[in-house]
Amino acid sequence: VSTNTSVTVIGGGKMGAGICIAFLEREHPVTLVEANEERALEARGRILGELSQRGRVSETAADFIATTSASTVLPAALVIETVPESVDLKRSVLVDAEQLVEPGGILCSNTSSLSINSLAQPLANPERFLGMHFFQPVPDTTLIELVTGDATSESTLTSARNWAEDVLGRDPIVVRDSPGFSTSRLGVAIGLEAMRMVEDGIASADDIDKGMMLGYQHAVGPLRMTDMVGLDVRLAISEYLAREIGPRFEPPQILRDKVAAGELGQKSGRGFFDWN
Ligand SMILES: NC(=O)c1ccc[n+]([C@@H]2O[C@H](COP(=O)([O-])OP(=O)(O)OC[C@H]3O[C@@H](n4cnc5c(N)ncnc54)[C@H](O)[C@@H]3O)[C@@H](O)[C@H]2O)c1
Repeated sequence: VSTNTSVTVIGGGKMGAGICIAFLEREHPVTLVEANEERALEARGRILGELSQRGRVSETAADFIATTSASTVLPAALVIETVPESVDLKRSVLVDAEQLVEPGGILCSNTSSLSINSLAQPLANPERFLGMHFFQPVPDTTLIELVTGDATSESTLTSARNWAEDVLGRDPIVVRDSPGFSTSRLGVAIGLEAMRMVEDGIASADDIDKGMMLGYQHAVGPLRMTDMVGLDVRLAISEYLAREIGPRFEPPQILRDKVAAGELGQKSGRGFFDWN
């Protein structure tokens, strides 16, 4: 499987920029496709600015192209879609993106929650499609969750693994397509139980987190992590998992109450902890 060729990233927002930076820092050329001229220019500036802040400007970075028209982009060995989380938008972008994949190449989605099988439905070549789920902040996080759909071929998975390990120097895990994949499902389960423990007055939020950090070697406790992700985001994911997997993911009342009160975590200044 050849990995030493071109990469196209579609969508240059928070995640797309991070993915471009991850490739450029490894001196691997990448092309970015954005929705319009203005977004493309803005994204290129943001990416080069961040590279410069990180002291990682190189010739590869100087040659980095952000464009709007997918038709001007040469077919690539790896195409990563990372546009906003909407099934309809992603499906239409992915169908167009199939034209941008060279023979033997693969197509990925960076979706954090949508079903890979459902995104694959309109594709002509679903066997070369899979989920490549990056984590924030992308340039500094070694994990990539590779999510296989029913149609994903073995060689597609092998190729994705090579890109992740050999080109990006990451540590991938492989997960079969299912709601919440692996990381969200388990992370949310622990977070929800921690909230129920606060609700039941078992221990303080601080002590619950400390228990997991000191006793189970978690780098961040489950309630602080909930604050960092955003309580509204966690509420939406847990409602989705409750629908798809079962009632054990029903959000506790304390989560609903905090979101209704505008206590959304770090971004609003208050969640299970005070961030001011
Ligand atoms: N933010 C996170 O923490 C995180 C983590 C993992 C995965 N994800 C997933 O990554 C994806 C992108 O998330 P984000 O946070 O970067 O969103 P974002 O809103 O910051 O960026 C999306 C970008 O896509 C561009 N775009 C929209 N339509 C387009 C089109 N037709 N062609 C090309 N570009 C287009 C937008 O202009 C925007 O720059 C989502 O699927 C999200 O679920 C996000």
